[in-house]
Amino acid sequence: MSHKFNPERAERLVSPERYQEIKPDILLQRLGVPPGKTILDLGCGNGFFTFPAAMGMGEEGMVIAADVSEQMLLLLNRRMPPDNVQVLQVEEVKLDIEDQSVDAVVGIALYHEFKAPLENLAEIKRVLKAEGKVMFMDWDPKADQERGPAKDHRIASAKAIQNLEASGFSIDVQENYVEDIWLLIAHLSS
Ligand SMILES: C[S@@+](CC[C@H](N)C(=O)[O-])C[C@H]1O[C@@H](n2cnc3c(N)ncnc32)[C@H](O)[C@@H]1O
Repeated sequence: MSHKFNPERAERLVSPERYQEIKPDILLQRLGVPPGKTILDLGCGNGFFTFPAAMGMGEEGMVIAADVSEQMLLLLNRRMPPDNVQVLQVEEVKLDIEDQSVDAVVGIALYHEFKAPLENLAEIKRVLKAEGKVMFMDWDPKADQERGPAKDHRIASAKAIQNLEASGFSIDVQENYVEDIWLLIAHLSS
């Protein structure tokens, strides 16, 4: 069963402490997608990663900021995204995005909210270009720290890897980015 993020808590997602800890610019570097490309920030919330990604992709590039929650997108819009951000409300699985049109899909603190991860991964695969990459970051169920979603709402990275591989992705990076948050980067297997 998935549990969706409560928009009343959105402010904490864009706190200076979180930027300091997660460092979206480092994530962009690790992803290795150069300026001029298109990133889909899936489950963008109020834009924690959207804004740094838009800066990184530059005027020639684009970020699609997509979320199921109208409320989260309203909060994102209030933060005045730049012109190279396209804000898109999506359905739980279906994305109104063309086949093979994005260079990377990034999902931060999203994976554990998927109701049907294999269906989401199939849809992500559909919109990715052949050289496309995915990056997921999420809470480790085995972590000791008392923060983040309840342990039984979290998904182990091993499970996400299993689903990614079953969906036709090869894993490039698998690590705990900080102690209680895992990071996966993968590309489409040829
Ligand atoms: C914990 S918030 C994280 C937001 C943002 N990625 C961040 O790190 O600040 C998870 C977000 O994913 C969205 N979400 C959940 N399931 C989704 C889905 N299937 N497709 C798109 N967005 C989804 C929620 O509405 C929420 O805004």
